[in-house]
Amino acid sequence: MKKETTDRIIFFDTTLRDGEQSPGAALTSNAKLTIARQLAKMNVDIIEAGFPIASEDDAYAVKLIGREVRGPVICALARCVTRDIEAALKSLESAKRPRLHLFLATSEIHRKFKLSKAKDEIIKIAREMVCFAKKYIDDIEFSPEDATRTEPDFLLQVCKTVVEEGAKTLNIPDTVGYAVCEEYGALIRFLRENIPDNIVISVHCHNDLGLAVANSLVAIKNGARQVECTINGIGERAGNASLEEIAMNLIVRKKYYNVSVNLETRQIYRTSKLVSSLTGIPVQPNKAIVGDNAFRHEAGIHQDGIIKYKETYEIMRPQMVGIPESTLVLGKHSGRHALNLRLNSLGISVDEKTLDRIFQQFKNLADKKKEINDLDLIVLAEQETMPSFEPVYVLEYFHILSGTSTVPSATVRISKKGEIFEDASLGDGPVDALYKAIDRIVKLSPKLQEYKITAVTGGKDAQGEVVVSLVINGMTVAGKGVSTDIIEASARAYLNAVNQFLARKSVIKKRKYRGT
Ligand code: KIV
Ligand code: ZN
Repeated sequence: MKKETTDRIIFFDTTLRDGEQSPGAALTSNAKLTIARQLAKMNVDIIEAGFPIASEDDAYAVKLIGREVRGPVICALARCVTRDIEAALKSLESAKRPRLHLFLATSEIHRKFKLSKAKDEIIKIAREMVCFAKKYIDDIEFSPEDATRTEPDFLLQVCKTVVEEGAKTLNIPDTVGYAVCEEYGALIRFLRENIPDNIVISVHCHNDLGLAVANSLVAIKNGARQVECTINGIGERAGNASLEEIAMNLIVRKKYYNVSVNLETRQIYRTSKLVSSLTGIPVQPNKAIVGDNAFRHEAGIHQDGIIKYKETYEIMRPQMVGIPESTLVLGKHSGRHALNLRLNSLGISVDEKTLDRIFQQFKNLADKKKEINDLDLIVLAEQETMPSFEPVYVLEYFHILSGTSTVPSATVRISKKGEIFEDASLGDGPVDALYKAIDRIVKLSPKLQEYKITAVTGGKDAQGEVVVSLVINGMTVAGKGVSTDIIEASARAYLNAVNQFLARKSVIKKRKYRGT
């Protein structure tokens, strides 16, 4: 096998492109920028910021990220079509280190049923489009879509063609999550042995059979040096390979994989939380690395072992991925300075104004909750550092009547730019009544697609987090609310989603007006 040019793994994060294709995920450009900044903090090498031809919103997000985020390469996706390439290049104009990611399906099933093109036509298009793009941009990545169901010899022919035209990275996607580890490893080895050493071989695995991470790791073992993945493994259908799982496999089993990782892994937990709250997609509790139970030991024998010697049942320390160790830290009498120190030790640094706001929320919470732990603080900081947009509607007051012998009813008071509105409604339950009362005020008819409630901190006085996904006039928006009172969290989540809808609507309107 040929020698690799480098033994460092390039992390290509596609949370904002393939990840955003997850059902129910809808991110505003501001939210995308916030995630991109956090990815840069975590030191990912490449951020795939969007698919500019897909929507005005995507194009704008790529532009915004390219302008604002420094450090990682900023990448935009395009089909092998000139108008896609032009849109992608336009969005990348202000990126300091831009990359164009071109893709074209190569498998027989895609050639026949999707593209109606013969093999020689695929080769011709791939050649022409890489050649066209190369006049404007040097860093080109090419993906033969559905590579794992493509005849290997034809796949190699396509790869050699685009390399001749100047593609520098060859990404081999398992688009439909069909690959088996051994088979995929052998395919990567075959390509590695037949493609010049200076061309990076990348992998991009989907999780339809639950093998996305395993396949990515086998590919690395067989010569791949770039891995495409998403935070929390979100993505189309069953998702993409999870970044945090790949990274920690390579680190914990460094001797086996013999490659290096340049990520700031202590930012993993925070990034996971941020992506989950902005997309509204919760992390399953038993998810490796970032799930709530990933470092919890329940069985007595395990707890005993951990107390005696951590490594009896722990293969990595939670702090390696940024999960806070201590639980009880601050309370009602703690001051602003102590709060700031604790936030810093959690990897959260905020400016004075944001600290003031977090401190105020901290005091409010301390009135309701005796002990405030690190997770509470992360939740508070997250709320206050979320991409800010001026909310149109603000919850002022609500009152609920509910019980076994009464029809649930809700009264809600909401302000809109200082003006107060109040309304009431009956419902099937207290939350239903609340939402109906809000609908009457905001004069929209959202369809509640999803409602999820989780306790985000521990104990009887835990903070509850409600995430809702609404469809309003055909647009899907997610909203989140946190409170020690779950009805209040429900109201806040609903209003947050309504406000997100109004913010997105006005951004789209403004952009149309500006013609960007
Ligand atoms: O899964 C896939 O094939 C893709 C390509 C665009 C790389 O996401
Ligand atoms: Zn994909």
